[in-house]
Amino acid sequence: MRTQVGIIGAGPAGLVLSHLLHLQGVESVVLENRSRQYCEERVRAGVLEQGTVDLLCETGVGERLKKEGLVHGGIELRFGGKGHRIDFRELTGGKTITIYGQSEVLKDLTNARLAAGGQIYFEVDDVSVHNFDGNEPKVLFTRNANPEELTCDFIAGCDGFHGICRPAVAKALTIYEREYPFGWLGILAEAPPSSEELIYAYHERGFALLSMRSPQLSRLYIQCAPDEDIQQWPDEKIWRELHKRLESTEGWKLIEGPVIQKGVSGMRSFVTEPMQYKNLFLAGDAAHIVPPTGAKGLNLAVADVRVLAQAITEFYKSGSRDQLNRYSEICLRRVWKVQRFSWWMTSMLHLFPDASAFDQKRQRAELDYVTSSRAAAESLAENYVGLPMA
Ligand code: FAD
Ligand code: DHB
Repeated sequence: MRTQVGIIGAGPAGLVLSHLLHLQGVESVVLENRSRQYCEERVRAGVLEQGTVDLLCETGVGERLKKEGLVHGGIELRFGGKGHRIDFRELTGGKTITIYGQSEVLKDLTNARLAAGGQIYFEVDDVSVHNFDGNEPKVLFTRNANPEELTCDFIAGCDGFHGICRPAVAKALTIYEREYPFGWLGILAEAPPSSEELIYAYHERGFALLSMRSPQLSRLYIQCAPDEDIQQWPDEKIWRELHKRLESTEGWKLIEGPVIQKGVSGMRSFVTEPMQYKNLFLAGDAAHIVPPTGAKGLNLAVADVRVLAQAITEFYKSGSRDQLNRYSEICLRRVWKVQRFSWWMTSMLHLFPDASAFDQKRQRAELDYVTSSRAAAESLAENYVGLPMA
């Protein structure tokens, strides 16, 4: 089998890349080791930046997003039992975020690709990448237990943090990394959201976040140990903790409902430099991970592949490798700014196990500052709705 771009991974990075390339007349094949159902049901990110929404809408995959996405003009920061609204619309000249689950984005993209005759192979095994330092890169894999070979001009490693592409070029990469001494325990509950907008709560028992997926579905998180045993958290205990951490002196009430999914995820900051080696390009979680507090993971993946799609298109149009050579440099400038923001939001809102009384006072001052100074609130808002794509 031959194609122009071999894409490993059918997550947001892989599918958006395949879609953007198709619109420019560039052919690709996407290889994914999980089933379509697994990819589409996995509960992950939920907040889309303005630029991500614009890109999906402008490229024809935003119809359901426009109908079902919940447009939010701000968020609440809650501490000391009181809410403080950060008004994105007012602070950014009209920009907003949209709540629309990653699973829904993936369904829309998969449908669009398949409807356009796109090739996505789910449930392939033993994927390995070869010859990417030459002109005839090759991807080997098995499908229905039969060995197959895909030759291409470029390989896009969109296979997430645990994929095979980054390890394949590890020798050429420098890794920058930080782990956090906590994780998030997240639930999806059949309960109408208790607030119209997201609530990020700082509390002496630890961080809590109220989010949502639809007018009937709440998504909630609490800070926990990085290796927290979910078995130790029956639903009643999770709700008890949420009530405490989201407590309000302003007459606000948390609405409960049946928990339909729960899980624990660890948190890290991670960047690989560069994000490319010869004809292999890394994008999304394969190249970087942010702690989830700024809701940036998916958005960053989309920003990467936008740059990559442009560079590949430019190559086929003019034969020039200039943009391809600069892919990493262009992406990393934005990646590091988003890393900074995600680290900052995480540091401001979580309880650090080793925090001194001084650290905690400083954290409260930070929250006070960001909710009382227009300059500080503007900076948060500008980053949250999304920095320019590139
Ligand atoms: P992925 O979505 O990871 O996609 C990679 C794809 O490659 C996967 O489908 C995987 O199955 C496939 N793959 C892996 N290895 C191979 C292989 N060897 N061969 C073939 N295919 C392979 N971000 C937020 O902003 N908010 C959140 O609430 C949030 N929650 C998250 C919860 C969890 C548990 C995790 C893991 C991440 C979460 N994220 C969240 C981050 C966000 O979901 C990611 O940043 C985003 O999915 C990145 O997209 P991607 O396409 O780069 O990678
Ligand atoms: C969600 C996840 C985040 O990491 C975040 O900062 C806000 C919302 C969510 O899953 O809805």
